Amino acid sequence: MTMNVYESISALEEVFRYAKLYRSVPLAIVNRKVVMPLLSHDVDRDWFTLLELIEAKTLDWVHHSVAVGILASLIGKRMQLSSMDRQSLLTAGVLHDIGIVLIPSEILHQPDFNAEYWEVYENHTIFGYQLLKNTIGISHHQALVALEHHERVDGSGYPMKKSGEQMSLFSKIVGFADALCGYLESSEVPCGRVSLEQMMTMLPDSFFRSFDPMLVSVVMGVETS
Ligand SMILES: [Fe+2]
Ligand SMILES: [Fe+2]
Repeated sequence: MTMNVYESISALEEVFRYAKLYRSVPLAIVNRKVVMPLLSHDVDRDWFTLLELIEAKTLDWVHHSVAVGILASLIGKRMQLSSMDRQSLLTAGVLHDIGIVLIPSEILHQPDFNAEYWEVYENHTIFGYQLLKNTIGISHHQALVALEHHERVDGSGYPMKKSGEQMSLFSKIVGFADALCGYLESSEVPCGRVSLEQMMTMLPDSFFRSFDPMLVSVVMGVETS
């Protein structure tokens, strides 16, 4: 894995620690030490960097967040978003789970994750939104990603059970990247050196049901007009 990714991971660890302690997001550090190193990384290798991150099985929030940021930015590239939008998406991606710092650690480390704990855990979306909307330099769309990344286009998500029309494009992209990374982190799917397109064909149909079909087509490499 390249140096840039390690730099981003250790800087994001610092950001999570700061946010937990001071209840605010140090955006200058996010931009300079997390996002910039990832942007200067060779984008054609992004998918494989992400697989290496997942295969390393150091499955903490920070590694997960960097993986999701990389994948969201890669999807943004496929959607031919402007480089400014992709940078903005990458920032929103690495911060999508920042609200987790305000969830009590005894809940996060609970081996028996029952309905009651789950209800508390779901608040990481609202906490993340509140942290980001009070951060100067973060746009409304970026803050919405924290709030909406677990919403699903069929209304089956949380915290507000929004439907597809009610969700922002950034939230749909990061939500899909988050779900795909989560699936790979928790499953025994052999990652190896398969391409993103090959990986998509290995997933069960049920995986795609609650995502925007247009977005799924783009990720699958299917031309849409
Ligand atoms: Fe989340
Ligand atoms: Fe996540």
